[in-house]
Amino acid sequence: MQPLATSVPVAVIGAGAMGSGIAQVAGQAGHQVFLLDQREGAAEAGRQSIANILQRRVDKGKMEQADLDALLDRIKPVNELKELAEAGLVIEAIVEDLDIKRSLLADLEALCGDNTILATNTSSISVTALSAEMQHPERLVGMHFFNPAPLMALVEVIKGLATSDDVAKCVYATAGQWGKKPVTATSTPGFIVNRVARPFYAESLRLLQEQTTDSATLDAIVREAGGFRMGPFELTDLIGHDVNYAVTTSVFNSYYQDTRFLPSLVQKELVEAGRLGRKNGQGFYSYTEGSQKPEPATVASASSEADTLIVEGNPGPLAPLVTRLSECGLNVIERDGPGRLQFGDAVLALTDGRMATERAAAEACNNLVLVDLAFDYTKASRLAIASAEQASAQAVSDASALLQKAGIAVSHIADRPGLVIMRTVATLANEAADAALHGVATVSDIDLAMKAGLNYPEGPLRWSDSLGFSLVHQVLTHLQQSYGEDRYRPALLLRKNRFAEKGFYS
Ligand code: NAI
Repeated sequence: MQPLATSVPVAVIGAGAMGSGIAQVAGQAGHQVFLLDQREGAAEAGRQSIANILQRRVDKGKMEQADLDALLDRIKPVNELKELAEAGLVIEAIVEDLDIKRSLLADLEALCGDNTILATNTSSISVTALSAEMQHPERLVGMHFFNPAPLMALVEVIKGLATSDDVAKCVYATAGQWGKKPVTATSTPGFIVNRVARPFYAESLRLLQEQTTDSATLDAIVREAGGFRMGPFELTDLIGHDVNYAVTTSVFNSYYQDTRFLPSLVQKELVEAGRLGRKNGQGFYSYTEGSQKPEPATVASASSEADTLIVEGNPGPLAPLVTRLSECGLNVIERDGPGRLQFGDAVLALTDGRMATERAAAEACNNLVLVDLAFDYTKASRLAIASAEQASAQAVSDASALLQKAGIAVSHIADRPGLVIMRTVATLANEAADAALHGVATVSDIDLAMKAGLNYPEGPLRWSDSLGFSLVHQVLTHLQQSYGEDRYRPALLLRKNRFAEKGFYS
């Protein structure tokens, strides 16, 4: 399907944060853009904000003045709906209210030609519900940009029950033409990103509630071991706890209170206290002048007399860490075994979703120290470890000293199942697998959405594959047993992969 020709005008309704950004994107792609807002002066202000942002690029020599002038010529603030009549694509980015959006869509249907595509940038309202009263519901499609629209690559193209294939395909191709990374999703609560991302926040909030460690340490682990741009607490401080909590609550209620989406009391408390994050100076962290972000808890230089690393069997996903450790001047001995590492008194193993204490008892191995997952063990600057209640102080010291030899900062956290990154990745993959099973989007579109929409270092399903076809399923099963909660029930596709001995991409 061909994208909309650049000679076809585009209309954007609502000139707020999203509408102005979308107008900029369409204008930069070469379309004439009509920008309308019901608030007097708002459309002109939206155009001015585009001018201000891009003027800085011109001043830095990153954009030609002539290109900016031409772009601003193409963006035309208008005051009345009838001035949009020529548009071939109308994108609404007005207030998030079903009735107000429906009323606008009815007015647009009365005004626009039969071939005009109507798109909604809604982030939470069902496209199917929005189209229900339309005369031609097949022409309505979701075109969900991310904030700020000119910078964020992802566009979720949302198909409602009645949306025609051609309309969805044309909008998909158009988003691609505009330099975006489009994905297609069905109209389900949270679409892809706002649904699949819930565990990223939920698991860390739960770990915080369980006194596993403090927020600064969890953020540092998520960044420095997980490879995510921001930790969950600094990110929700940026998003605003009111907004993030509202999205979680809306997804939770839309899925009939499925405990997988359970909101956090810790975050509720912040919202109730008015600690909304950066925007009002206090969230998990303080942003008032002079305040400093707390340092993550890091094990001080640990003492150990050991100089030999014993690798027992296949270390699996820990193999790159073993290579990194082997390059630190240690003697390395390989022998058969269950895929664990021994260093001094310590026995180290990758978490499988059980608490270290439980696994130490099951494997009759008192000095067990579990290592968390890292996105890339060759580069991780921090790793979380958790030790069994039975482990000796020397074993913990030996384990820390081993990792420190490779320049890795160690965060020794309380013994909780799945540590931090492993349970985050496992629960993200679980949600992604369920979304794939339910036909929300394809496996590759789900992964692409999480990378392009949220800058995740890897899509959850490809990440799950990289850990082997059964590990994520095993971690979830252990989490489910540890908590006795439905929240961690493994998705059917993960279970199927395990028995088929294959991954999502293989
Ligand atoms: P905003 O409040 O910044 O802007 C909305 C604009 O729409 C306002 O200027 C308002 O005057 C105007 N407006 C309201 N009703 C109107 C009507 N009937 N006709 C014409 N103009 C009208 O809101 P924002 O953040 O730009 O959000 C707009 C839409 O985009 C919402 O549906 C929201 O859910 C969605 N969205 C928001 C994202 C965000 O991060 N802010 C991300 C993705 C989607």
